Amino acid sequence: MKLNILANKQEVAVAFSEYLKEKIETSTGAIHVALSGGSTPKAIFDYMAENYASSIQWSKLHLYWGDERCVLPTDAESNYKMTVDHLLSKIDFPEANIHRVKGENTPVDEAVAYGEVLDKNLEKVNGIPRFDVVILGMGDDGHTASIFPHEIHLWDSKNNCEVAVHPESGQKRITITGKVINNAKEVAFLVTGAGKAPKVKEIVKKEGDYTSYPATLVAPTSEKLLWLLDEDAAVSIK
Ligand code: 6PG
Repeated sequence: MKLNILANKQEVAVAFSEYLKEKIETSTGAIHVALSGGSTPKAIFDYMAENYASSIQWSKLHLYWGDERCVLPTDAESNYKMTVDHLLSKIDFPEANIHRVKGENTPVDEAVAYGEVLDKNLEKVNGIPRFDVVILGMGDDGHTASIFPHEIHLWDSKNNCEVAVHPESGQKRITITGKVINNAKEVAFLVTGAGKAPKVKEIVKKEGDYTSYPATLVAPTSEKLLWLLDEDAAVSIK
């Protein structure tokens, strides 16, 4: 586990954008990345759109979503829409490289269909699809992707994807499961904001209720887990 603590969300966005740019530049073939929703990726997309629009060979990048809300792709809640608004509409990105979760479809069917998309497009290691990079955030409650503490069993699903339910809104979501997350070549955990500090402390120090948080279970077999935190999220572990 490598913990990198940066001053604020903007600095996390800059550091991750530089890391991803370098990955794309040095990769000889296509690079398959699972995105997440949340405010931290939004800052990353803004930074990349503003600074790298014409300096990245975007055609090498294939985009997927580690989780998506079961809404229309035009809905303000859609993670796909957020990515379009903040990045894809501002750069020259090949349509064929966008592998979105179809949030408008029946959730159980889409969980199966998206699992098949991963099986078809990604290389397999131990029979499990392997992303080059999975980007994850963590919620104040210790959720990651869309696996929430009350459904922590979804982590161990034998399927690539599952339907999850948000604990407060009841909104259905499609999420990749633990076996796909932990099979990735690299996982980047982007955690910003003071609301995350208590869970970050419990997880990093293995204290309190840490075993009940899905974020605790992120441990790629490649051992390449990059934590990028801001000072506010890391305030209790320094
Ligand atoms: C989602 C996200 C979710 C997110 C965290 C952290 O679609 O809701 O994928 O898991 O990553 O809630 O969000 P922030 O980046 O805003 O801290």
